[in-house]
Amino acid sequence: MKLFHSHVAKSFSVFRENYGCEVVCFTADVGQGIKELEGLEEKAKASGACQLVVKDLKEEFVKDYIFPCLRAGAIYERKYLLGTSMARPVIAKAMVDVAKEVGADAVSHGCTGKGNDQVRFELTFFALNPQLNVVAPWREWEIRGREDAIEYAKKHNVPVPVTKKSIYSRDRNLWHLSHEGDILEDPENEPKNDMYMMSVDPEHAPDQPEYIEIGMVSGLPVSVNGKELSPASLLSKLNEIGGRHGIGRIDMVENRLVGMKSRGVYETPGGTILFTAARELESLTLDRESIQQKDSLALKYAELVYAGRWFDPLRESIDAFMEKITETTTGSVRLKLYKGSVTVAGLKSPYSLYRQDISSFESGQIYDQADAAGFIRLYGLPMKVRAMLEKGI
Ligand code: ARG
Ligand code: SIN
Repeated sequence: MKLFHSHVAKSFSVFRENYGCEVVCFTADVGQGIKELEGLEEKAKASGACQLVVKDLKEEFVKDYIFPCLRAGAIYERKYLLGTSMARPVIAKAMVDVAKEVGADAVSHGCTGKGNDQVRFELTFFALNPQLNVVAPWREWEIRGREDAIEYAKKHNVPVPVTKKSIYSRDRNLWHLSHEGDILEDPENEPKNDMYMMSVDPEHAPDQPEYIEIGMVSGLPVSVNGKELSPASLLSKLNEIGGRHGIGRIDMVENRLVGMKSRGVYETPGGTILFTAARELESLTLDRESIQQKDSLALKYAELVYAGRWFDPLRESIDAFMEKITETTTGSVRLKLYKGSVTVAGLKSPYSLYRQDISSFESGQIYDQADAAGFIRLYGLPMKVRAMLEKGI
């Protein structure tokens, strides 16, 4: 039997000890930064793996996972832009592919038994290859907490970048950086400024606002300031711009799928810019009922993504709706970035439903103000009838 592991943290020799198998180590590049990818080969070998496979999933991640969530407007519990949730299915899918390539009959992940990530990895394994066995060391071995894990790695000479002093649980990719644990576990504590890594403190952001223009085609971003960019480079560019203006910091207490509440702080600079751009453009291109329907399905979409059900026909069906409804969400959005805020500064779309000639307070041809009187009488009739009943008229 062969196994492999997504988080290169624990010693692979234990797999050999416990299962008598060879271990292939796998790491996905989803934009967590070169630092995390450095020295993995030696680390994998030193930890007892026979091979390390690294896959660059950046473009696929942004194009096929992040952008659909953006198009859907998926936000979990009013705030969370799902950065970790969207990354798990793309990583787990790649693991299933690599397992096939190397002939592994089991896969393993480094998630704790208390979080969402274990669900996301394993649901993806189930959906894409129901025959794979899953090994979850945190749930099966004597590792009960992050301190245990660090202790364990030390004992087996595996270098890990966390110390007992800084024990934030972090997850970084091209979309976001999440911080959990340590002082954040008490919601009364304000995050310390030195915790943040993708964005400056809004108070220290430039005193001059910066204007940017996002080009969108059918609900998906294609350009920044007139320059067309690939999905991953577009997002990196916006992270850089948004980060220097202190944009996209979220601090929240969320409901994990496994029942408990947890406190998390997220940095999503580029993503926050893109969500604003998409929402603003939709105000021109979608009518009232379309917006309402889209928003209500977005809630379900976010819930499914959060809960690890990416490869679920329900998520895919809602996605088909999102693709159709945003067909005409094309145009450009000018945004003003200033000390942590993103505000709309100008909108343009060839499919705009906004007509100045109709909406203007100056008199127009199509809209006859006299029509409003009859409309209001009929529209308000139920209210009138109820009031008549209450007053015995
Ligand atoms: N609470 C967030 C989520 O469930 C972030 C999880 C971060 N994961 C991690 N392994 N540090 O999506
Ligand atoms: C973990 O438990 O592995 C990280 C946090 C989470 O999955 O929610």
